[in-house]
Amino acid sequence: MAADAQDTTFGGGPEHVAIIMDGNGRWAQSRGRPRLFGHHAGARRVRDIVNACPDLGVKYLTIFAFSTENWKRTQAEVSGLMALFRRYIVREARALHDEGVRVRFIGDRIRLDEKLVAMMDELELLTSGNDRVHLTIALNYGGRDEVTRAAKRLAYEIEQGRLTHKDVDAETLSRFLDTHVLPDPDLVIRTSGEARISNFLLWQSAYAEYEFVDTLWPDFTPEEFARVCDGYARRDRRFGAVKA
Ligand code: FPP
Repeated sequence: MAADAQDTTFGGGPEHVAIIMDGNGRWAQSRGRPRLFGHHAGARRVRDIVNACPDLGVKYLTIFAFSTENWKRTQAEVSGLMALFRRYIVREARALHDEGVRVRFIGDRIRLDEKLVAMMDELELLTSGNDRVHLTIALNYGGRDEVTRAAKRLAYEIEQGRLTHKDVDAETLSRFLDTHVLPDPDLVIRTSGEARISNFLLWQSAYAEYEFVDTLWPDFTPEEFARVCDGYARRDRRFGAVKA
């Protein structure tokens, strides 16, 4: 374990880190390669970052793999990404399980291929007893879409007479979100120099700290991850209150 990583663990590092893994396309293009080459490199990077979590005290890692807006990409890129997700599950399932990683998927599964959904279910089931690191993969995920789906389900419960409008508060709505079993993220990282959140965990990140780094995702190393977590530990979070 690196010395700075150790400091983070004991200095109030983030328990839940969410990452917008941006820059795969530019990484590939700068090497004269097709965009999918960058996505494959990005997928390999996921493993390194997941493996770094325990030493950094990061118990929950949530990664943005495919957004509700990413369907607008070319058919070739979309189908290449879907094939990559299937391949990732096949190749990584055993290692993730052996490392004590509990995998969950968030996002709307309705538009995803049946075979991929079955593989996602299987991986969730396989790893359901693990607790060392909780890896959540956002696939066909959008923050607005998630809140809309939650509101719809809440409305249905009211329609069925199981809840009334008086039950509707932030706590109740949160129970209908895809992330209902997860704590809110402490730190949201976006790679590749873009400073926007692109519809990622909108509700959950209300009080998160943000870190935008210039590095393209395939180049984002566990060492840089440790530095960012270490920087977080030195921030002063007040959640809207004033410190005494
Ligand atoms: C954004 O980079 C990245 C994505 C839309 C896909 C993210 C997917 C991976 C990192 C790999 C697969 C992940 C798993 C869990 C197997 P971009 O394509 O928008 O890059 P650009 O901004 O440089 O064009």
